[in-house]
Amino acid sequence: MEQKIKSIEAEAKTFSIASNLELENFRLKFLSKKGLIPALFEEMKQVPAEEKKKVGKVLNELKQLAEAKFKTAQLELETGSDEITEDIDLSLPVVSSKLGNQHPLSLTRYRIIEVFERLGFNLADGPEIEDDWHNFTALNFPPNHPAREMQDTFFVEKNPDILLRTHTSNVQIRLMKQQKPPIRAIMPGRVYRNEAISARAHCFFHQVEGLYIDKNVGFADLKQTLYHFAQEMYGKDIKIRYRPSFFPFTEPSAEIDISCLICKGKGCNICKHSGWVEIAGSGMVHPNVLRNCGIDPEEYTGFAFGMGIERVTQLLFQVNDLRLYSENDIRFLKQFKTVLS
Ligand code: DAH
Repeated sequence: MEQKIKSIEAEAKTFSIASNLELENFRLKFLSKKGLIPALFEEMKQVPAEEKKKVGKVLNELKQLAEAKFKTAQLELETGSDEITEDIDLSLPVVSSKLGNQHPLSLTRYRIIEVFERLGFNLADGPEIEDDWHNFTALNFPPNHPAREMQDTFFVEKNPDILLRTHTSNVQIRLMKQQKPPIRAIMPGRVYRNEAISARAHCFFHQVEGLYIDKNVGFADLKQTLYHFAQEMYGKDIKIRYRPSFFPFTEPSAEIDISCLICKGKGCNICKHSGWVEIAGSGMVHPNVLRNCGIDPEEYTGFAFGMGIERVTQLLFQVNDLRLYSENDIRFLKQFKTVLS
């Protein structure tokens, strides 16, 4: 019996499999139900009990060998066909996999950060869930100021003291409480307001806050800093103007307009035919705000500004519907190429 197994083993080893037909023949001859190996297992019944263990081992080895040979040959025939090797042209450029691109608001945020970092501004961050003091009171909002009303502010649960910040100005307060002047920082982040969603308004959007506190900081510093920013962002030909305004946390306050990039000042829908578009709010930090943060307004002065990242982006890329930014429509998002320098 052992002799027989050895000779079938030799036969299986030398059996050449170069085609699917030969593969099938191999299977039929050795492995199929009526093949040689199952027949050997049948014969095992007649082997005397004291030899069964030894013969069984040899037979199992033959079975494993035949099965392994079959599988290897099958795999080679499936994957190693000549046609496929001929199709691979190794000199062709690699098909690159598609990477996503950065969100337009992120691109704008990076550009804003870059401009101010070059001027020595640090980056600061603060919480989106804020208390009334940091979002309003410390910023010199009178107790009955309309911005505190329900229609503007999202309160967290029924607690009127905890809210989603309505602007990034809360980070000014946190920074001034933490750090002694000189302070020079910009603070990008998401803000929330209870507004109906439309092309021109959204319940969340993004701002960048700026703050510069030191001895002898004046309005001229504010003007020149934001003029420099506008030129870096939109080119040397940009014009800028300051309109007197009101914010509780600055005195004097000004709104900043830049000349309309779309119509170059001639008048169009974007600038409502005025030739100017508003880009930021700004002013000299109110002495009360400095005092609320433990900074002596007799010793230090400073300016602050706040701008909407969506607005800056709109003017860079001419996006006219705010909703596009948060709808994740790939057709919109894929139009923005990385503009990081
Ligand atoms: N916090 C203001 C807003 O959300 C924007 C702003 C205006 C910020 C003037 C400032 C500033 O720091 O000085 O509308």
